Amino acid sequence: MARRWRNRVAFVVILAVLSIVLWSYKEEVREVPDRWHGPFLNPEPVSSLRSPKDIFVKDEDKLDDHPIDDLVLAAENELYGLLKKRTHDISTTAAAYRARRGRHPPPGFDEWFKFATTQDCVVVEDFFDQIYRDIEPFWGLSPAVIRDAAASSRDLIRVRNGQVAKSTSEWFFVNAYFDMFKEIVVHLPDVDLPINTMDETRVLVSWEDINDMMVRGAESKNVQRLPSITSFSRVNDEPHPPVFEHSWLHEPPYWNIARQGCPPDSPARHAALDADFSTPPEFPATWPNSTHRGYVSNWTIAKDPCVHAHIRNLHGSFVEPISQSTTTRLVPMFSGSKMRFNNDILLPPAVYWHGDRRFSTTYARTPWSQKRDEVLWRGSASGGRNTEINWTRFHRHRLLSMLNGTQIQLTMDAPNASVASSDVPHNFPLPNKDLYPLRSFAQGLLPDWIRSLSNAAFTWLVCFPATENYACSYTGSWYRRGGEMPLHRMFKAKYLPDVDGNSFSGRYRAFLQSNSLPIKATIYDEWHDDRLIAWKHFVPMDNTFVDLWPILEYLVSHDDVAEKIALEGRRWSDTVLRKEDMLVYVYRLVLEYARVSDDKRAEMGWSETRQ
Ligand SMILES: *[C@@H]1O[C@H](CO)[C@@H](O)[C@H](O)[C@H]1NC(C)=O
Ligand SMILES: *[C@@H]1O[C@H](CO)[C@@H](O)[C@H](O)[C@H]1NC(C)=O
Ligand SMILES: *[C@@H]1O[C@H](CO)[C@@H](O)[C@H](O)[C@H]1NC(C)=O
Ligand SMILES: *[C@@H]1O[C@H](CO)[C@@H](O)[C@H](O)[C@H]1NC(C)=O
Repeated sequence: MARRWRNRVAFVVILAVLSIVLWSYKEEVREVPDRWHGPFLNPEPVSSLRSPKDIFVKDEDKLDDHPIDDLVLAAENELYGLLKKRTHDISTTAAAYRARRGRHPPPGFDEWFKFATTQDCVVVEDFFDQIYRDIEPFWGLSPAVIRDAAASSRDLIRVRNGQVAKSTSEWFFVNAYFDMFKEIVVHLPDVDLPINTMDETRVLVSWEDINDMMVRGAESKNVQRLPSITSFSRVNDEPHPPVFEHSWLHEPPYWNIARQGCPPDSPARHAALDADFSTPPEFPATWPNSTHRGYVSNWTIAKDPCVHAHIRNLHGSFVEPISQSTTTRLVPMFSGSKMRFNNDILLPPAVYWHGDRRFSTTYARTPWSQKRDEVLWRGSASGGRNTEINWTRFHRHRLLSMLNGTQIQLTMDAPNASVASSDVPHNFPLPNKDLYPLRSFAQGLLPDWIRSLSNAAFTWLVCFPATENYACSYTGSWYRRGGEMPLHRMFKAKYLPDVDGNSFSGRYRAFLQSNSLPIKATIYDEWHDDRLIAWKHFVPMDNTFVDLWPILEYLVSHDDVAEKIALEGRRWSDTVLRKEDMLVYVYRLVLEYARVSDDKRAEMGWSETRQ
């Protein structure tokens, strides 16, 4: 019996290895012939413009006094202010910690700082803010509950005695994190880290409950009293196995759970889901909230669904996620991204560590001067389960419609097309010239202008129910198939819009490193958010995309600014988004998580005088 099982297991393993080998071989082959990467499998109508710059030639004033100029300047100052806070030795670093966190640093903080120094890491206390947004609520939960909830999770990274182990899961997220932890495990205390193996987020506790826990947790903040315990407790695995009862909700719609995480006075909290899918989605009639004359001026707010209630009808994560498994009870769960109101704990996403070709490239970077004036996007129509009745509310579909001259033309030709009309896609608004005066639109050239610039297509329609090949009864006629394209080819284009998939976009780090300019819209937070400055390292976009065309007009007519942001984004990501920086972040995170899970946490800490 046992033997037969062994044979079966061996067979499965061989099969798995074989398919991995074949798969990577296929990746290899895909890279070779150029014609496989033609922009489209069928040609698009051609623009009457020779160059996207043409619409600016006639104008003397060249979009002077543009709000984006102010934002670029403000971003400069913001980064300058941050870098002034950089610390270079353990005592100022610990002082910055106490001032910002209201606690003593965790045990082992000096070793952590030494590690950061050997990795040439830029240490600014603010760069680690996300750790504290994530961990702080757990100070309101009993350490034994945190440990039990963790130990009884299915997919785990476990640290004991300076060694890392993983649960049996072979899912690549767990494997990637296992590799990541191997690099730093000798420094780490004993912990169990439950790994989220889904794209989607997992933990969402109501705003009121989190608030209670934060209040309770804050009671233990004290920097006056010196820590009496300066090392972590050993985790004793033996006597009682964990008995924590997890409960996961799988029932859509997600929005109704999600908005409970918003503050009681926020616009989203009381915004019920729009159940009528027979109408086109509604777009706000004003500039998006927290913008400077229509352009994102506070990236934190731009990403926050609580402030932008209309997003519930304009993003696949809320319309219908592919999978949903959420708990409303606070438990530790480590994820690659989350929305502001989720309570997952962020790790750098596994795809950033893994080195998969879809998410990173080692090709030499094309200089800006050799890049095309082109807006390039390739990817699948993911973002949730798009269906015949709800696809017009999906964000990726909206992006591609807005980058499609023909669809813009159709919509312009039939501005009053009835809801039932299938001549227009009904999934984006035409420009409002009082909010965003557009050159191309005023000249009657918006569709042609977009054609002259755009190279954007789906590689897969993710039709539901699933269909063969590229066929899809409801989106097939709207979206032509684009050839797949490896990253280094995408980087021949200057402009790279980057929007969410089922959760965050795994290509973002590679885009930042590319010398091209990412134009970013997302509702997902990532580990690196406190170290990247909008308008300095990337161009931020509102999640409605109403600012997409105006942003593109600005960039095409201000090539010097576009180039500067692209280059500074690249330079900065080579400085603070390296794998070394991820390790330093994770190391600090584990110290905090180990402390908050420790029964003696209130007395624990690091201080100069105690060592
Ligand atoms: C902006 O916020 C206010 C108050 O928070 C809200 O009433 C309004 O609907 C929001 N507007 C947009 C366009 O999101
Ligand atoms: C952005 O808004 C957040 C939340 O209101 C605020 O805490 C933060 O200071 C703002 N950031 C900037 C750069 O103004
Ligand atoms: C999206 O469409 C599917 C069916 O096509 C439906 O089951 C789902 O509930 C829709 N989403 C929402 C939020 O209603
Ligand atoms: C642009 O829209 C037209 C009309 O819907 C469609 O035929 C075409 O395939 C679209 N192009 C792309 C690249 O999706």
